[in-house]
Amino acid sequence: METGERDPLEILASPLGLPCGLRLENRLVKAAMSDSLGDGAGQPTEDQIELYQRWARGGVGLSVIGEVQVESRYPEKPGNLVLRTDRDHAMFQRLASGGAEGGSRIWPQLGHAGALAHAPISQPAGPSALDVEGLRCAGLSVDEIKALPRIYADAADRAKADGFTGVQVHAGHGFLLSQFLSPLFNRRSDGYGGSIEARCRIIIEIVRQVRAAVGSDFAIGLRINSSDQLEGGLTEDDSLAAIELLSNESIDLVDISGGTYFPGAPSSSDRRSSGPYFVDFARRARQVTQVPLMVTGGFKTRSDAAAAVASGAADLVGLARALVVDPELPSHWLAHDAVDPTFPRFASNPLGGVTAWYTMRLTDIARHHERDVERSLEDAINEYDDRDDHRVSAWKRSFGRPGE
Ligand SMILES: Cc1cc2nc3c(=O)[nH]c(=O)nc-3n(C[C@H](O)[C@H](O)[C@H](O)COP(=O)(O)O)c2cc1C
Repeated sequence: METGERDPLEILASPLGLPCGLRLENRLVKAAMSDSLGDGAGQPTEDQIELYQRWARGGVGLSVIGEVQVESRYPEKPGNLVLRTDRDHAMFQRLASGGAEGGSRIWPQLGHAGALAHAPISQPAGPSALDVEGLRCAGLSVDEIKALPRIYADAADRAKADGFTGVQVHAGHGFLLSQFLSPLFNRRSDGYGGSIEARCRIIIEIVRQVRAAVGSDFAIGLRINSSDQLEGGLTEDDSLAAIELLSNESIDLVDISGGTYFPGAPSSSDRRSSGPYFVDFARRARQVTQVPLMVTGGFKTRSDAAAAVASGAADLVGLARALVVDPELPSHWLAHDAVDPTFPRFASNPLGGVTAWYTMRLTDIARHHERDVERSLEDAINEYDDRDDHRVSAWKRSFGRPGE
């Protein structure tokens, strides 16, 4: 891709000021990844602090910690952090300061898995009760929905108290707020379902209450799907309408992704197509919003990253797997002799294998072992599942059995 007259290094190295006043030192963001490094009771671990410190030292402008739960009842996985009232403040503060070394920024992604909550430690509930092959969940009552803005606001307030400089509200990939946006999950006929305005309503209510809690100088990002990429799901046109509606709110960054974990759909992190996935959509989003945009998915080369920014499609580039392959990637891309990462090729393609492989490698990076470990996708799935099984017991000890 052409980047025009400008040097890719200069484009990616330029700082960006967000509407709240927070400055990001460069255009490269470690996109949200559920690192599965919580201790099973929602608290950070030494490994996790080391992981984010490595990314900060590697020169990333911002890291988003994946799936930090706003409450303990609907986690995505038992290795998630939880912004609980009785959390270990010292560990959260060390995570916030470790991930901010050298001027880097770190924000938790505020997660709530809703209908896709990890069943062994949850009673999954989404916008509507569903019983389809591969997915059974309860529907949230209006009172439960109306309680959500306060829950998100309290979590954001706790993140701020522990030293984080922003949060990302997760409304992508088929988790709770993405479920509200998606007709696949949201079959409500009250004020929270039907038109895109109604499906977007809970997100707007959450953003308003989070802003009221954190004040004007704290960043609020939002991750949203460009589409669900599944028949009957959120369409690009509806996503653009949602972005336009949300632009009237006090938001600092919209992170564009796509895909859903509704049964039968491939996930963004298991995709293998070449080239960035959502730049064309970001260009369309640019027409309907003034809010800074980030685009995530499929970036493998510095020239593609620079082109996304230089073309005006996005202000920031989100990188997930590239920063697992090379945690020091920003310092390489922000040097004159840029080296693009070499991605692994896998002989087989078991479902969920790629995500499990990258997740296990996050632990290797945290322990500085990544150069020593070779793992098949099948082994990665086994290690990942075994670890989660152990953490399920820890979670139940800490938070009780689902429904108790
Ligand atoms: C191991 C792993 C965990 C992920 N966890 C999350 C998550 O917690 N929240 C989220 O929004 N996206 C998550 N993602 C998706 C990434 O943020 C990203 O959208 C996707 O991997 C595509 O970007 P990439 O091509 O740069 O990897 C995860 C991806 C990977 C590989």
